[in-house]
Amino acid sequence: MSEARAALISHLREAHRGRAGQRGAASADVPKDAPAPAAAFDFSTLPRYQAMTLHRAAADMLGMTSPFFRLHDGPPEPELAIDGAPRLNFASYNYLGLNGHPEVVAAAAEAMRTQGISACASRLVGGERPGHRALEAALAAVHGAESALAFVSGHATNVTTLATLVDREDLVLMDQLSHNSIGEGAKLSGSHRLVFPHNDYDWLDERLGQVRGQHRNVLIAVEGLYSMDGDSPDLARLVEIKDRHGAWLMVDEAHGLGVLGPTGRGIAEAQGIDPRRVEIWMGTLSKTLGACGGYIAGSQALIDILRFNAPGFVYSVGLAAPLAAAAAKALEIMLREPERVARLRANGQHFLAAARAAGLDTGHAQGTAVTPVILGHSMRAALASHLLHEAGISALPIIYPAVPEKLARLRFFVTSEHVPSQIDHAVATLARLIPEVDARLAALRG
Ligand SMILES: Cc1ncc(COP(=O)(O)O)c(C=O)c1O
Repeated sequence: MSEARAALISHLREAHRGRAGQRGAASADVPKDAPAPAAAFDFSTLPRYQAMTLHRAAADMLGMTSPFFRLHDGPPEPELAIDGAPRLNFASYNYLGLNGHPEVVAAAAEAMRTQGISACASRLVGGERPGHRALEAALAAVHGAESALAFVSGHATNVTTLATLVDREDLVLMDQLSHNSIGEGAKLSGSHRLVFPHNDYDWLDERLGQVRGQHRNVLIAVEGLYSMDGDSPDLARLVEIKDRHGAWLMVDEAHGLGVLGPTGRGIAEAQGIDPRRVEIWMGTLSKTLGACGGYIAGSQALIDILRFNAPGFVYSVGLAAPLAAAAAKALEIMLREPERVARLRANGQHFLAAARAAGLDTGHAQGTAVTPVILGHSMRAALASHLLHEAGISALPIIYPAVPEKLARLRFFVTSEHVPSQIDHAVATLARLIPEVDARLAALRG
């Protein structure tokens, strides 16, 4: 084991020397017209690549296979073949089991037949398909909004929307646990940015009192259901604070749609708040709706600004018609069959109760579709995921930098289609494996 470690360190030293050598050579005795050394074109000398090599070597020392990019055979249902063997799946956000639902598949196939696969141009210039308008009308209605706009990616929706709405005269205040796409959008916008402690409304209120006057517009970004922690903010408090300070509120419902509220309309329905009190609703088509893409819902003026200005919409192809049709059909089923939402809620509560009873640390989780089991550091989470995989259960590790290093975790997604015995089995197996995880890590240290 120590040999492997020594080999790893020597490899990294060599790689580092190679890069330093390249820099020195470029500036010293080498004639200007000499061809660049081959290493200058070698991406494996970049620090990011070296960090990956380091992680891989550490995983090898623990005898772990990579949990990432595993081959899944079939739609993301509770049971499917992963890497060639049957597994229980807790790694997909097919919350209401609508990905692969026969009506959804038929709607996508019909759209493909009648409207083509790709829009083959930006909607601004290449025109739209009936499916775009139907989907956006349905999404606007779900959020009680005047209008909605669908984008080809959920991540790009946040990035391009934030970058379009705010600039350096403005301020974005985002919850510490907000999704990467919110942070990236805020960065790209060039606005001032502040990250507030998770769900700390007093901090938010006080800071707004101090800085509101220094900015033209202020946008507060939160999630309806936090994707790493499985908890929700207090929407009434946020609305009251943003109203008093004259700020916009943006709520990312990527994980709230289909999960929160009796009919799955999200946090506003769950907490009894008029959705029109929120300026910007964001959601994705890739979770409950089992398709791919993202959307913004809000006032007609907001949507007009985005559809004529947001680079990720104007300069990007329109959402593929089969995806628009699939998402619209899934939304229709979600509203028609609230028993799916109820089943999901019961499963979420069941998972939380079972995990707590087994002594697992579920952090802030509230018993919804997302429950983390916090394990403390990246290696512990990664090894637990590996042993679970070997035991026939798929739950992925979430490690630094996605979460702080000491809060590395396994994240379990439950759906309406899991049954309680599957949940019990997963929780019991994890609880049984944790001592083995710790023994292996102790052996490595010793
Ligand atoms: C809260 C949140 N917002 C946005 C996104 C991006 O959505 P997509 O994966 O559909 O691009 C995600 C992705 O998981 C998410 O969790």
